[in-house]
Amino acid sequence: MTPARLITLEGGEGAGKSTVARGLQARLAERAIRSLVTREPGGSTKAEAIREALLVGQVKPYGPFAEAIMFYAARIDHIEKTIRPALARGEWVISDRFADSTRAYQGALGQIDPALLASLERVALAGFRPDITLILDVPVEIGLARAAARRGSGATDRFESEGRGFHARLRKAYLDIAEREPDRCIVLDASLPPDDVLEMAWAAVEMRALAEASHADADTALP
Ligand code: TYD
Repeated sequence: MTPARLITLEGGEGAGKSTVARGLQARLAERAIRSLVTREPGGSTKAEAIREALLVGQVKPYGPFAEAIMFYAARIDHIEKTIRPALARGEWVISDRFADSTRAYQGALGQIDPALLASLERVALAGFRPDITLILDVPVEIGLARAAARRGSGATDRFESEGRGFHARLRKAYLDIAEREPDRCIVLDASLPPDDVLEMAWAAVEMRALAEASHADADTALP
């Protein structure tokens, strides 16, 4: 039996994460692997309530570290109520955003000591981490144009409305994470057509998560 995996999708605005999430779920289903697609902030009842407050900017006046703490409050509930139970049932979990979003977004706001963010992550996650993280990388202009097209005449949210400099720092923050943690992270060129991005994402999952899973199966099968 393939052990259940946590796959996280990361990237800036308009990278196409939710399309890849659904596509991966369909590919896993073809292999008879059940999976749950979830998202952050949110993914559990209490975390969805916190999402509301964060995305309308209610926490913004308290400063970026308070926002980071609120993202973590939501994440802790999401892990306990949704992610761990699904993994325990043997379902794979595909999360549209996870802890790297806090590193990248709250880090890119530029007012939090990276060491402080790292300690928050260490305390809150206590070693829990994704098996594989796909970072959907897209040039800032393309990402913002896609996000604007998706939004139509609706208002920008708390982070979409940050300036271009923020989005450029964000992109770099993600690429830095990938460089520091190559075992976990894979960068995909998300400026390509959606079908191609999904193909690359699936190839990465097959190579990293499924291949490792079959090795693990082989290991446990040894006398
Ligand atoms: P969402 O509408 O889900 O955006 P997207 O489609 O880009 O994922 O909104 C989530 C927003 O919250 C997004 O702008 C990224 C931001 N965010 C953080 O700043 N920190 C975090 O830890 C997380 C999970 C999200």
